[in-house]
Amino acid sequence: MDVLEAMRARHSVRQYLDKPIPADVAAALRAEVEACNREGDLNIQLVTDEPGAFDCAMAKYGSFSGVCNYFALVGPDDDGLEERAGYYGERLVILAQTLGLNTCWVGLTFSKKKAHIQVGPGEKLALVIALGYGATQGAPHKDKPMEKLCQADGGMPDWFRRGMEYAMRAPTAINQQKFRFVLEPDGKVRAEALRGPFSRVDLGIVKYHFELGAGRENFAWAE
Ligand SMILES: Cc1cc2nc3c(=O)[nH]c(=O)nc-3n(C[C@H](O)[C@H](O)[C@H](O)COP(=O)(O)O)c2cc1C
Repeated sequence: MDVLEAMRARHSVRQYLDKPIPADVAAALRAEVEACNREGDLNIQLVTDEPGAFDCAMAKYGSFSGVCNYFALVGPDDDGLEERAGYYGERLVILAQTLGLNTCWVGLTFSKKKAHIQVGPGEKLALVIALGYGATQGAPHKDKPMEKLCQADGGMPDWFRRGMEYAMRAPTAINQQKFRFVLEPDGKVRAEALRGPFSRVDLGIVKYHFELGAGRENFAWAE
């Protein structure tokens, strides 16, 4: 499965099997975590065989079960942390999907207190991503119409439409899809987060999907 197939196949999964992640798979994930930390100035941690973070009433209320592995998205407590956590976290989600694993982004329904996460001085835990072998593969989410999520005055090039199709497959908090992509007159693309919980994390996630769908060689981001 390549990354584009993984973006189409991925759905949030909240129930996991009692099946550990094999050492070679964990090693591949850790190598990608290190690359993301280097490129994104983050301190993402892969925590395995640790059921504490999802052993709480909130997680049960959120219908999570069997979660023993997660990525902790930690980084410097600055203005860009949420978007970077979204972008690099989704890169890990998609890699995990290509390796046969399932995931779910989790902003609220876990226990920060019980989680085994190192947060250094000046750092913040943005959120976590549950990881493991799902009891199911999840189900597709409902979408807003594409025209509500973007603006391309004067016609939509094929690469922009493909970018949008993949952005719409992305996970967003409570499936809010509070983002907008605008094709500027100079051909650059401006991506905006609208108001909503975790919408800056969502922005990083959807930008990662848009880049791969549209092809990075076809466009540049507007500042
Ligand atoms: C930033 C973010 C935070 C999320 N937080 C939670 C959460 O706390 N609990 C939960 O059950 N799902 C959470 N989700 C999962 C969303 O509900 C899910 O991605 C959305 O409904 C779309 O479904 P899909 O991922 O299957 O496409 C979160 C997703 C994102 C992107």
